[in-house]
Amino acid sequence: MCGIVGYLGDKNSKEILLSGLKELEYRGYDSAGIAVLQNGKVDSFKAIGKLVNLEEKTKDYITEDFSIGIGHTRWATHGKPTELNAHPHIGDESYVVHNGIIENYAELKKQLIADGVTFLSQTDTEVIVHQFEKNLKISDSAFEAFRKTISELKGAYATLLVTKGESKTIFFAKNGSPMLVGVNDDNEKYFASSDTPLIGQCSDVNYFEDGDYGYVTPTELAIFTKDDVKKEAIFTKLSTNKLSAQKDGFRFFMEKEIYEQSSVIADTLLGRLYDDEILFDELDDSLFDGINEIKLCACGTSYHSALTATYLFERYAKIKTSVEVASEFRYRQPIMSKDTLFVVISQSGETADTLETLKMAKAAGLKTLVICNVDNSSMVRLADACILTRAGVEKGVASTKAFATQVTVFWMMALYLAKRNNSLSSQEIVKQINLLREVPSIVKVEDEMHERIKRLSKRYLHGHGFFFIGRDVFYPLALEGALKLKEISYLHAEGYPSGEMKHGPIALADPELFTIALLPQHLLYEKAKSNVEELSARDSTICAISSLAFDKADDFIPINECTDYMLEFFEMMIVVQIFSLEISARLGNDVDMPRNLAKSVTVE
Ligand code: M6R
Repeated sequence: MCGIVGYLGDKNSKEILLSGLKELEYRGYDSAGIAVLQNGKVDSFKAIGKLVNLEEKTKDYITEDFSIGIGHTRWATHGKPTELNAHPHIGDESYVVHNGIIENYAELKKQLIADGVTFLSQTDTEVIVHQFEKNLKISDSAFEAFRKTISELKGAYATLLVTKGESKTIFFAKNGSPMLVGVNDDNEKYFASSDTPLIGQCSDVNYFEDGDYGYVTPTELAIFTKDDVKKEAIFTKLSTNKLSAQKDGFRFFMEKEIYEQSSVIADTLLGRLYDDEILFDELDDSLFDGINEIKLCACGTSYHSALTATYLFERYAKIKTSVEVASEFRYRQPIMSKDTLFVVISQSGETADTLETLKMAKAAGLKTLVICNVDNSSMVRLADACILTRAGVEKGVASTKAFATQVTVFWMMALYLAKRNNSLSSQEIVKQINLLREVPSIVKVEDEMHERIKRLSKRYLHGHGFFFIGRDVFYPLALEGALKLKEISYLHAEGYPSGEMKHGPIALADPELFTIALLPQHLLYEKAKSNVEELSARDSTICAISSLAFDKADDFIPINECTDYMLEFFEMMIVVQIFSLEISARLGNDVDMPRNLAKSVTVE
């Protein structure tokens, strides 16, 4: 994910910008750049790949005395990771860095091109700097031009802009993407998109609110609201602990990652949803030529998301699909035929068992695709094609946002294939695309819901086991819910298809057996409900998750009413994740680094 830093002061701005960007490295990026304005002259450097490349490029560049500077780590969305697409973006005399998405960039760009502006990059960001310079020509001051520019942008942004004519000013604006400014007694000003670059540099920071914009000079910090009213900065003390700052105020990385799902899913969808079709720029459509079957292979959470895909692919794209646990597939001498597309799914791209199945498929001459979160990982390098899930760095060992983005990719892929196979009407595809657009808001965690689960969790700290049960795609979600719980609470939990309970596990039913029942309103509700009633009749303790009240439940976690079962899927996903988190927290376990587990399992 992109990162922003900015500095105004007398110290070595190059070093400050580079070390600030280093602190943001954990967010993931594919290129970086800085621009420093000193004595009316701007020096700008960009490099693709890791920060060492930028450090190498700037090694002979020295900044002394007063200067202002902006820096950025870019995680490609509009346009490939190239130097031209890296920030800062350049106008005739101004430089800009930006996080987020300018939704109306195409419109603005069209007009700017008609005005004679030449664009160097494929990014949405570049319109900001050109729009600013266009406005500069008709404004009384650079600040007026900046104010006008911001009012013309639609979308989410955190942006910093410097311009040669104002060599002691950095302009800033924030709407939807995080940014803060720090000050100190030396009249320095520091900007960043999260706390960590500022730790140790300044003790007092102001977190901008959506709609805030303004400027800083050595002696001033001027903030305006979206209604153009000047306001005072609200300073808070900055933590001195980097680790806790990286958690953005959350207790655990896992919690932060659960809350991040809304924004990362928005990233996953970015540039892939069109009015009536799904497009993956990274896929050559010929990948699917001659393919009659899809085989998915993965481990753990990635296996669960892949299991979800089997339902979606067969239902929507009418293509035969199966899934296997990679460690099993490896040694069972599977039959691999060339009309099968072999798809591996992995957060890390390094899981040994999954990687090995990819090698097997390649050796057997199958076409291969990887759905992965880590660019340049072993699987990404090896597969014929790759779709990146764009979840950003996931630190919690218990995977959450990686799962959410994988399922999102699979839902998109199902519609992409449905269009290709003509298996869904265009009306239905449009409907589904509109549902996908709702996912980022569906997964926003509501305080009330979190509080309710937190309170409820105290009743689930013992017992002789948990059964998470669901049907159809809610069965993989039940598996995932159970995996989350066992990983971090160390309580025994199983995921089961609701309809299978009566074939054995129901023998365990008693008040100390906890059933977590996933009861979607829009998919097999009556069937799933009868299965839960069977358990309730045998005195199992039932916790139902549904948008419909269920009187046989001991506990009930309501989800918002949705119009489709896949939206209910994402609503319930949040519930099971938070349920595990709160039980683990109450038990005093290490939520982010549970015992015996590693984030990336590179041994078989
Ligand atoms: O990186 P991968 O997706 O290939 O990892 C697969 C599993 O090791 C992983 O999903 C594991 O199950 C997680 N700890 C689940 O929370």
